[in-house]
Amino acid sequence: MSAHSERPPERGAGDRGAGGGVDVGRPLLELTGVSKRFGAVNALADIRFTARAGEIVALVGDNGAGKSTLIKAISGVQPADEGTFVFDGQRVSPKAPTDVTRLGIATVYQDLALADNLDVVGNLFLGRERLFESTRRIVPLMDKVSMAQQAKELLAGLGARIPNVLSRVESLSGGQRQAVAIARALLGEPKLILLDEPTAALGVTQTAHVLELTTTLKRRGLAVVLISHNLSDVFAVADRISVLRLGRNGGDFTVADTTREAVVAAITGLAADTPATAAAAPGQPTASRQGADT
Ligand SMILES: Nc1ncnc2c1ncn2[C@@H]1O[C@H](COP(=O)(O)OP(=O)(O)O)[C@@H](O)[C@H]1O
Ligand SMILES: [Mg+2]
Repeated sequence: MSAHSERPPERGAGDRGAGGGVDVGRPLLELTGVSKRFGAVNALADIRFTARAGEIVALVGDNGAGKSTLIKAISGVQPADEGTFVFDGQRVSPKAPTDVTRLGIATVYQDLALADNLDVVGNLFLGRERLFESTRRIVPLMDKVSMAQQAKELLAGLGARIPNVLSRVESLSGGQRQAVAIARALLGEPKLILLDEPTAALGVTQTAHVLELTTTLKRRGLAVVLISHNLSDVFAVADRISVLRLGRNGGDFTVADTTREAVVAAITGLAADTPATAAAAPGQPTASRQGADT
């Protein structure tokens, strides 16, 4: 319980989740030496990556940088060839998605994998429907009333704006669908949640709602990994940024101490050469080139 972050505790931190007491800043997932090859392609080479409780870490990088490959390695969908995986202080070697889920890691993929023709309740409880005790042996009737109640509470707790949990998912907006997918992931009570481009398909208002939701998750003490190519979103909510570039670590940044220019430079591999960027790397000599806009 000694670890703490540099910033003051967030309001509401510790109200739920993260397996009891929230220890903001405690490393939950620590990856080192993660490598993955596809034939001749080094999709990931010697990657280190850390996600901490009560923190949003953004994973950013250009197309082909290795973001999806890293997420698949973490989620167990496509295990890495090499690498050390420490979760909550324990060395683990998950072999399959079910192992990873059991550890307390949930993934919300970009396509969300929702069943459009089912309502919100149906989607939340797909595969874990409650049964009426008395009817279980005859017909497995779902306890819809209690599931609907739990769905309402869950979504309200997330601040999700979904007026009716009996609406079919196909009638919802992109932001509402994202909220449903995140709520479904939370039913497994994860300690860490991976969100793959959660705002990619959303307009401004919906994006704001989903970003609020990511902050809610963080305040509950979850470690949130936000994959995004949108630096506005990243700077709005993330605490730290990990850059991948061509399958390698491209730089790690603390949002409070860096600039967009520095992060863009790490993503593209171009030298960070604006005065503002120099502040993010104290002690580094700065090549001063004015009018660097392209
Ligand atoms: N299943 C695969 N087979 C072959 N190459 C792959 C496969 N998946 C990813 N790659 C390659 O690995 C590299 C990283 O890809 P990816 O992780 O999808 O990047 P990102 O998600 O950052 O855009 C790319 O060069 C990509 O072409
Ligand atoms: Mg990708």
